[in-house]
Amino acid sequence: MDKNINITLKVWRQKGPKEKGAFETFQLKDISQGTSFLEMLDILNEQLINEGKEPVVFDHDCREGICGMCSLYIDGHPHGPDTSITTCQLHMRKFDDGATITIEPWRSAGFPVIRDLMVDRYAYDKIMQAGGFVSVNTGGIPDANAIPIPKKDADLAMDAAACIGCGACAAACKNGSAMLFVSAKVSQLALLPQGKVEAARRAKAMVAKMDELGFGNCTNTRACEAECPKDVSISNIARLNREFIKAKLQD
Ligand code: SF4
Ligand code: FES
Repeated sequence: MDKNINITLKVWRQKGPKEKGAFETFQLKDISQGTSFLEMLDILNEQLINEGKEPVVFDHDCREGICGMCSLYIDGHPHGPDTSITTCQLHMRKFDDGATITIEPWRSAGFPVIRDLMVDRYAYDKIMQAGGFVSVNTGGIPDANAIPIPKKDADLAMDAAACIGCGACAAACKNGSAMLFVSAKVSQLALLPQGKVEAARRAKAMVAKMDELGFGNCTNTRACEAECPKDVSISNIARLNREFIKAKLQD
């Protein structure tokens, strides 16, 4: 049964991208274990505002595991100690009474800190803009439904499409590689007939943009797969490599 717990928070505070950051320690009392992690941060911020202090800046939007905004590193793990969930789906019952919880922003060259726990994840949008779309005329909904697609391919495409662009993969990777994200976005389209038309251009453009933005190389540590809240498989990275080599050979 959920109980109330007292916790210590060590939170990264940083006034701006060029400022030097440091941890600040806060005590929170009587937090119900039924509280979500982000609600707990809301309580912290109410406490800080009542004390006339600056609230902690953190990103969030949907609070139901869809938007990928809640980019927090908690006790050394992107999205916290639980697996297959986002930070907004994490609850305080995962923590014991008296626990000290360390909260940091994504630590990755591709995601500079804006303030406190909020990072700039626009780099992933730029990679999408480079080619993560279909621009050929695919017809209306009845046309799409009329195209037979093997169930296996449809399932694999749906699994890849589960990626919410949260950035945990690059944040978890010691090389700061964005390969899991890019491979999911390439795969979700390359597996379907509508996406195959532009597959070569897409793979080359997205990989080139990823490299240009300073994301590191993949060395198969699998940290991305272990920390991905949507269980995106690294088999997508193998597919991206195949798509990329195929495109280069066509050149
Ligand atoms: S692959 Fe996983 S960790 Fe990476 S952006 Fe997508 S959902 Fe997040
Ligand atoms: S706030 Fe949208 S996924 Fe967490």
